[in-house]
Amino acid sequence: MTLTAPAPTTTTTSEAPLLSVQNLRVWYELRKWGFGLAGYVRAVDDVSFDLHQGEAIAIVGESGCGKSSLMRAILGLVRPREGKILFQGQDIFAKGRAGLRWYRMQVGYVQQDPYGALPPFMSVQRILEEPLILAGVKDRKARLERVIQVLEEVKMSPPEDFLNKFPHMLSGGQQQRVVIARAIIRDPKLLVADEPVSMLDASVRVEILKLLRQIQEEHNLAVIYITHDLSTVRYFSERIFVMYAGKLVEKAPVRDILNNPKHPYTQALLEAIPEPDAANAHKLREVPPGEPPSLVRPPLGCRFHPRCPFAIQGTCDQDVPPEFEVGTDHLVACWLYDERYREHLERAMASS
Ligand SMILES: Nc1ncnc2c1ncn2[C@@H]1O[C@H](COP(=O)(O)OP(=O)(O)O)[C@@H](O)[C@H]1O
Ligand code: SF4
Ligand SMILES: [Mg+2]
Repeated sequence: MTLTAPAPTTTTTSEAPLLSVQNLRVWYELRKWGFGLAGYVRAVDDVSFDLHQGEAIAIVGESGCGKSSLMRAILGLVRPREGKILFQGQDIFAKGRAGLRWYRMQVGYVQQDPYGALPPFMSVQRILEEPLILAGVKDRKARLERVIQVLEEVKMSPPEDFLNKFPHMLSGGQQQRVVIARAIIRDPKLLVADEPVSMLDASVRVEILKLLRQIQEEHNLAVIYITHDLSTVRYFSERIFVMYAGKLVEKAPVRDILNNPKHPYTQALLEAIPEPDAANAHKLREVPPGEPPSLVRPPLGCRFHPRCPFAIQGTCDQDVPPEFEVGTDHLVACWLYDERYREHLERAMASS
């Protein structure tokens, strides 16, 4: 896959954020039959970040680290145990059902599995009209005009050829274009895409990522792109947040994550990206060694410490690392960046 540099960001961080996620916790109850509550799956545990209008971010992490749980909370589909999600300064859960309904109109959602996301017995026209009907657009002609407009936007042309088709008559790439068309048809301010290309053939992944990027730029949309695949992030993200076992461990502009990763987990994730150049194929290795921890009883201290080659005994296995600022807009939750552990950092850098 050829990677291209992202367009420069148009974000001005002095503006109020469009979305503000504050100390968010999404925990699921773990019930054992006959024993009642047996604990919690701490899928998202104290996650905070801001997102501005027109900005695209990527959230990257291994399967099971809590990405979809974070996304479901952001979509207003699960209520967080703690913390807040502010959209244009308003707490999305504070205004009851009507408030949530209004909020969901402002957010588009691109699912991972396009076939599963599309109702099988509805035509493309009906699928795309549905969100407009729910938004109260009564004029049939106006609805059809908008449907044709978005089909053109997602490059399904001529649109008239697709209006009467059913999902099973479309290729995987075309199905995902319909999902994207449905997500943008109400002109949202925020688009959330959860692994939008992971179930598609490799040949169409790049096209779909480029399409999302183009839509994001043309509409000045805020986008949250969720993926387990670090090699796809630079298609349309300005900042990357690396997630591990329910926490964001590194937040930085894309170029810093790719050229100057600071957290040992991010470094390991980058080393795990296959080298496109065959001469460097030996660089592909099983990194990081070991398994992600249980989210029911996560390790004390830094959750990465059982897998971390640089863990500082007595600290990393006891105390949760705070975020340290290591560059402009670059935050890392790792004790190595505490002044007190400068020697450990130097040793870690010498050995990697
Ligand atoms: N509805 C649920 N009930 C209980 N546990 C869940 C539920 N949804 C997800 N989980 C658990 O939460 C953790 C994070 O899952 P998820 O958010 O889907 O991660 P990801 O999207 O990164 O793969 C996993 O351990 C998963 O088994
Ligand atoms: S805080 Fe400690 S265990 Fe965690 S990543 Fe940093 S050095 Fe490794
Ligand atoms: Mg997921």
